[in-house]
Amino acid sequence: MVKVLVGPDTDDLAQLYAAPADPWLRVNMVETLDGAATGDSGRSGSINNAADQVVYHQLRALADAIVVGAGTARIEGYAPVDRPTVVVSRQGHVPDRLRGGTPGAVLLATCAAAELLDEARALLGDEQVLVLGSHRVDLAVLKQTLVERGLTQLLCEGGPHLLRDLVADGVADELCATIVPRLVGGDRPRITQGPPVDVPLRLHLLLEAEGTLLGRWLVSR
Ligand SMILES: NC(=O)c1ccc[n+]([C@@H]2O[C@H](COP(=O)([O-])OP(=O)(O)OC[C@H]3O[C@@H](n4cnc5c(N)ncnc54)[C@H](OP(=O)(O)O)[C@@H]3O)[C@@H](O)[C@H]2O)c1
Repeated sequence: MVKVLVGPDTDDLAQLYAAPADPWLRVNMVETLDGAATGDSGRSGSINNAADQVVYHQLRALADAIVVGAGTARIEGYAPVDRPTVVVSRQGHVPDRLRGGTPGAVLLATCAAAELLDEARALLGDEQVLVLGSHRVDLAVLKQTLVERGLTQLLCEGGPHLLRDLVADGVADELCATIVPRLVGGDRPRITQGPPVDVPLRLHLLLEAEGTLLGRWLVSR
């Protein structure tokens, strides 16, 4: 049973998570109440729960493409899905399980200096390898490039370094974050990792389901 704490009074999840504009880039993350982005397994699967999964699948259903950092795709074992997966990798690495799928199912966003550029082109085809900068991936150009390909509703599923860079570069429009009612301690990553940022967010929606808080925060501009 989902209770709406902040936001419109509806039980229609698709409506609750509708993007307010097009194009739109949202990032979806899960964390524990003590701020961990992973549990025992070193993956998010060991901290997420049923309520988070419902929203995770709803957000995927609303997206034209999934954007993911190469680290997350490698660790979480991403495989092709029913819409394009865009992997962001500085070194130009195509994660193992994203190789050999249907042509066009996987795109790679990388930079000219990437040491694995030739391998990536051979694996995915030239059209699917987006070179967006000389020594770093320009994330604003990535968003624009995907929009020009008709992929306007973008869902980024992390990880923490990519989320940090997207907000630092002013490219993310929204953060969806699930806070699961657990404490795990330990030395775990947070949902943002990397150099400091300070990005104000505005609460747009807050749902509660059996103690789990599911929020939408819009990036203030
Ligand atoms: N709690 C959650 O919701 C959630 C979500 C996702 C992931 N995670 C967890 O987070 C951990 C992974 O963390 P992470 O921070 O390493 O993930 P990440 O941001 O997905 O991966 C970092 C790697 O992705 C590429 N990358 C990220 N940002 C980039 C940028 N701006 N430009 C170019 N390449 C970029 C680079 O790949 P190359 O090394 O190939 O150059 C970089 O080494 C895993 O344990 C995963 O399970 C948790």
